[in-house]
Amino acid sequence: MRIMRPTLVLLQSQCLLCVFVSVCVLGVLGSLPHALPWHVSCPVRCVCQIKPWFSPDSVYHEAPTVDCNDLLLTKLLLPIPPNTHTLRLQSNLLSELDTAVLHGLPNLTDLDLSQNRFSRVWTITQSSSLPSLLSLHLEENRLSHLPEASFSSMPALQELFLSHNNLHSIAPGAFTGLDFLLRLHINNNRLTTVDPRWFRALPRLEVLMLGGNPVEALPEQAFLALKSLRSLVLGGMGLRGLAEKALEGLDGLESLSFYDNLLTKVPTQALKRVQGLKFLDLNKNRIKLIETGDFQGMIHLKELGLNNMEELVSIEKAALENLPELTKLEITNNPRLSYIHPQAFLQLSKLESLMLNSNSLSALHQHVMLSLPSLQEVSLHSNPLRCDCLFHWAAEDASHPHNEKGTQTARLVRFIQPQATLCSEPPELRARRVREVSSREMSASCLPMIPTSSLPSYVGVKEGGKLVLHCRALAEPQPELYWVTPSGLRLGPAPSHASKGSAAPAPCLTASERFNYTSTSSISPGQVQDDIPCKSSKLYQLLPEGTLEINKVTHSEAGLYTCVAENVLGADTRSVTVGVHSRETKRKRGLGANLKGFPLFRADARLEVREVGEHYAILSWQSGRNLPLTRLSWHAIYSKFHTPTYTTRILAGTQSFNLTHLQAETFYRVCLHLGISEGTKHVSRRRRESIKPQCVSFRTKDASEPQPSLQLSPELTSTAVTLLLFAIIFLLLAVQGGDSEHDKEAEKLYNTFLREINSPKAVIINQKTEGSSKQQKQKEKLLLHQVC
Ligand SMILES: *[C@@H]1O[C@H](CO)[C@@H](O)[C@H](O)[C@H]1NC(C)=O
Ligand SMILES: *[C@@H]1O[C@H](CO)[C@@H](O)[C@H](O)[C@H]1NC(C)=O
Ligand SMILES: *[C@@H]1O[C@H](CO)[C@@H](O)[C@H](O)[C@H]1NC(C)=O
Repeated sequence: MRIMRPTLVLLQSQCLLCVFVSVCVLGVLGSLPHALPWHVSCPVRCVCQIKPWFSPDSVYHEAPTVDCNDLLLTKLLLPIPPNTHTLRLQSNLLSELDTAVLHGLPNLTDLDLSQNRFSRVWTITQSSSLPSLLSLHLEENRLSHLPEASFSSMPALQELFLSHNNLHSIAPGAFTGLDFLLRLHINNNRLTTVDPRWFRALPRLEVLMLGGNPVEALPEQAFLALKSLRSLVLGGMGLRGLAEKALEGLDGLESLSFYDNLLTKVPTQALKRVQGLKFLDLNKNRIKLIETGDFQGMIHLKELGLNNMEELVSIEKAALENLPELTKLEITNNPRLSYIHPQAFLQLSKLESLMLNSNSLSALHQHVMLSLPSLQEVSLHSNPLRCDCLFHWAAEDASHPHNEKGTQTARLVRFIQPQATLCSEPPELRARRVREVSSREMSASCLPMIPTSSLPSYVGVKEGGKLVLHCRALAEPQPELYWVTPSGLRLGPAPSHASKGSAAPAPCLTASERFNYTSTSSISPGQVQDDIPCKSSKLYQLLPEGTLEINKVTHSEAGLYTCVAENVLGADTRSVTVGVHSRETKRKRGLGANLKGFPLFRADARLEVREVGEHYAILSWQSGRNLPLTRLSWHAIYSKFHTPTYTTRILAGTQSFNLTHLQAETFYRVCLHLGISEGTKHVSRRRRESIKPQCVSFRTKDASEPQPSLQLSPELTSTAVTLLLFAIIFLLLAVQGGDSEHDKEAEKLYNTFLREINSPKAVIINQKTEGSSKQQKQKEKLLLHQVC
C-alpha cells in the first residue's frame, strides 16, 4: 500500500491528467511478488521483511524493509539492521531523530517520517549524511520554515514530500544541493508567494506540486530555472489571473493543472509560453466564456479539461481551433453551460473523445459533429436535450435521403451511456432515449430557445461597474439576437423580414461587429418607418454572439432588459431585471431600493393606425420603455353576433404590427395591452396596474373598389381616427371610450347602426389562454411571425 503513495497524492491533487506518470507503476503492482522473510534482529513491534520497492524513476528493487508504522513511538526503536533500505515510521509521535542511528544506515534509500510531529527539518538532516537516500517523506508534520540548505546531507535525493505542513517561509536556497531531485511536493502549506530562487538548485526537477497554498498571483518567470519540469500542479491556490510571463522557461512542461482557482478567463497569453503542453486542466475555475482563440497555438495539446465551472455559459465560435494533437476534450458538470456554437470546434483533426455530459445543453449542433472527423465517442447524458431538428443527426435512422455522408459519420460515433442520454423536450418525447427516437418523430422545426440557465431573472451591478449579459440561442436556421433596453431601445440587427415600404430600413445596430450606440441611430420599427429619437447616449456594446455589455453603469441603466432570439420560424424572449447598487450603500438595501433608481417612463403608448387595406391594417405605437409582455387584441364590430377577440403577443422592441386576414368593409377595434413580464416580480403591483390598454378603431377598405376610400393620416391619434371614421360612416355620433378594454357600452350602441356582415373566416390566433401547452405557444410564435 505504501508503494502507491505517490499515485494517491497525485489523485488527491485532482491532477487526473498527470496520472499518466504513475499509471505504469500501478500496472506492475498487480503482478508483484509478495514480501520475503528477512532474517535479522528486528526492533520489537516492528516488522522486518524484504519487500518490493520502486525507485522514483520506476526501477524495481527487493528492499530490506523495517516497518514501524502506527506504533505511537516518541523515539526510535533499536536496533535498526545496518542494511535497511526502507525505514517506515509513518503515524508515530516523533519530533526528533537520533541522527547517529541513521548515520549507521549507509544503504537507506527510503525514509518515511510522514504523520509525525517534526517541527524543524534540522532535527532530521543535522549532521547525518544519508548518501543513498532517494526518497524522504515528511508530509503531515509541523514544519513551518525551511532554512538554507535544509537537505544538503541528502545529495542523492530524488523525491521530497513536504505537503500538508505549515510551511509559510522557505529560504531562497533551501533546496541547495538537491541536484538530482525529480519530484518536489510542497502542496497544501501556507506559502503566500512563490520565490523563483527556490528552484535554481533543482535543474532536474520533473514534477512540482505547489497547489493548496494561498498564492494569489505568481511572479513573472517564477519557474524559469525548471528546464526539465514535465508536470506542474497549481491547484487550489486562489489564482485570479496569470501574468503573461508567469510560465516562461518551462520548455519541457507537458502537464499543467489549474484545478480549483479563481481564473475568470483562460490565461491565453501565459499559456502561449508553454508550447510543449500536452495536458491542461482548467477545471473548477470561474471562467464564464471560452472565447475565440483562447487556446491559440497550443499545437501539442492532447487533453483538455474544462469541467466543474459554475459560471461557464458558452463555448464561443472557434473557441478551440487548430489543435492538431487534441484527442480528448472534457467539458462536463458545468451547470450553466447551455450553448456550444455550431463552429466552436475547428480543425481538431484528431479529436476522438468528446465529453459533454452533465451540462445544461439542449443540443449539440450537427456542425459540431461534422467538424470532428476522428470523433469516436461522445458523452451527452444528463443534459436537457431537445429532440428536434437540431438533434436529427443523432436519431436512430438519421440516414435521411437529403443527409449526405456527413450524417453517416456522425452515426458511427459511440454514445457513452446511451441509456442515460434522454430527450427532455418536446413533451411527447420526454424520457425517451435519444438514440431510439426515429428522425420521423423529431420535429422538423427548430424554433429558437433561450436556455433559462444562461440568463438569470435578476442581476445586480454596482454603480460605475460593468454589466455583462449573455444571451445565447440555438435554432435551425441560426437565429438572430437582439436586446431591448429598459427605454424600449432595440439593440441589434434590423429585422430581416423588413418592410416593403421602406426601401432600406436603416439597421439600428449591427451585431456582426462591435459598435457604439449613439443617438443618431433609430429604432427599427418593422414595417413602418419611424423616427423615435434615441434619447440615450449611453455606450452599449453588443458582442457578436449576443452578449450585451454596458460600461460604467449608472442608475439610469437599471430596469428590464429583454433578449429576443428570432429566426424565420419564430422567436423566443427572455427578460432580466438589472438593479444598480449605489456605491456608498453596500448591500444593506433590498431590491426595492435598487429599483428606486428605475427611470420613470411614460406608462402609456399611443396606438395609431398607419395604413388600412382591404384585408390588413398596420398599427404602430411608441412607448418609451421595454414592455416584453405586450399583447395586441382585436375584434370585429358587428351588430348581432358575439365576435371573438383575437390576441397576439408582440415581440419586445417591436413598434408596429401588420394585422392581416381581416374582412373587408368591416369595423375593427384594436387594443394594445402593455405588459412588463412574468419575471419582473420586483416591479410593484401598483406600477403594473397603472398601464392601461390603448385602443383604436378603424374600418377596412371596401372590397375591390378602385378608388382609395380612406387615407388615414399617421399623425392622428387613436381618438381622432375613431372620430373621423364614425363621422364619415354615420354622419354623426362619436362616442369613444378610448381606454376601456371591453368597451361594451359603445359596442352595443354601434351595433344597432351597423349592417350585418358575415363573421371572418380567417382565424389568426386565439390566444386567450395564456400559459397553455408548449405546442400552442409554439404555434403562437409561428403565427406571430407570419403576421409580422
Ligand atoms: C550496502 O549495499 C551494498 C551493495 O548492495 C553492500 O555491499 C553493503 O554490504 C551494504 N551495506 C551494509 C551496511 O549492509
Ligand atoms: C466607440 O466610441 C469611442 C468613444 O466615443 C471610440 O473611441 C471608439 O473608437 C468607438 N468604437 C467603435 C468601434 O466605433
Ligand atoms: C401587410 O400584410 C398584407 C397582407 O399580408 C400585405 O399585403 C401588406 O403588404 C403588408 N404590409 C406591409 C407594409 O408589409
